[in-house]
Amino acid sequence: MAKTIGILTGGGDCPGLNPVIRAVVRQGINLGYEITGIKNGWKGLIENNTEKLNLASVSGILPKGGTILGTSRTNPYKNEEDLKKAKENFKKLNLYCLVAIGGEDTLGVAAKLVKEGFNVVGVPKTIDNDLSATDFTFGFDTAINIATECIDRLHTTAESHHRIMVVEVMGRHAGWIAAYSGIAGGADIILVPEVPIDVEQTVSLIKKRHSRGKTFSIVVVAEGAKFKKGDEVLQEEKLDAFGHVRLGGIGEALAKYIEDKTGYETRVTVLGHIQRGGTPTAFDRVLGTRFGIKAVDLIEKGSFGMMASLQGNKIVSVPLENAVEKLKTLDMELYDIAKVFFG
Ligand code: F6P
Repeated sequence: MAKTIGILTGGGDCPGLNPVIRAVVRQGINLGYEITGIKNGWKGLIENNTEKLNLASVSGILPKGGTILGTSRTNPYKNEEDLKKAKENFKKLNLYCLVAIGGEDTLGVAAKLVKEGFNVVGVPKTIDNDLSATDFTFGFDTAINIATECIDRLHTTAESHHRIMVVEVMGRHAGWIAAYSGIAGGADIILVPEVPIDVEQTVSLIKKRHSRGKTFSIVVVAEGAKFKKGDEVLQEEKLDAFGHVRLGGIGEALAKYIEDKTGYETRVTVLGHIQRGGTPTAFDRVLGTRFGIKAVDLIEKGSFGMMASLQGNKIVSVPLENAVEKLKTLDMELYDIAKVFFG
């Protein structure tokens, strides 16, 4: 009897998930496995909400953003009853191994299940690029290309109207999106969660730029950036199942401060989920495909508890635990490069 591979996508969606699903299904079927798609992340395992995946199910999905399996931020370890159901369904579905595609939260659950004796392999995903043990996650390249295009567009209108444009990008704990899109888009200031915002210095950099004849500026700020003394600016106090607050609002607060202190008209654009939507770049399609093939390879070798990872230009495997033990924050050498162009 054919062995069954389960596959789920959890946490925030991102472009490149479908290429991974396609690769796992295509390669899994090539090697004689049956594939069961689990809908909506861990929620689907708790509810036994699944569908069989075949070649037809993954036909045409390579360029599609999002995930054909759906996702959720459900954490089965939050509630004993949910955990019990998830484990029962794992057995009921007769899964030989589960491919968990996700970020720190989803892979954290995967690592715990491995400790409890379940066969799980991981695939790292997040537009934030903040997962340890892999150089890049898919979704990040698409996000920075979208953000860069938006910054380019904001540049032309900022210049026409002689305005300061504050662009708030995603990045809960890490400034990867802000730094990459800010450098690529020629931002005049980039503010990241890793470095508390010094508002006085921000204002003086803008004034310095204007004193050399420039009449507009672009400030890129990551949603998770914080003022020097004070708390994160929150959208609301609601926590998700993994205990994360919803961020957003730092752009507004910063713009108000800049306008008050400089007298220059300052506008805000929050890019939000635009960065997570739409078609993946070629880089993310290829990376997702390579990760998917690696996941099946790990299953073939019985390397459970491992995660596909990009190191240099090689796809390797690392223990799931390494990926979730700490966040990969922004490389400060990259931030130093960004700083050369501030003001
Ligand atoms: O982790 C990816 C991410 O897009 C973060 O950048 C952002 O803070 C968060 O997800 C938003 O999550 P949600 O879509 O659940 O509001």
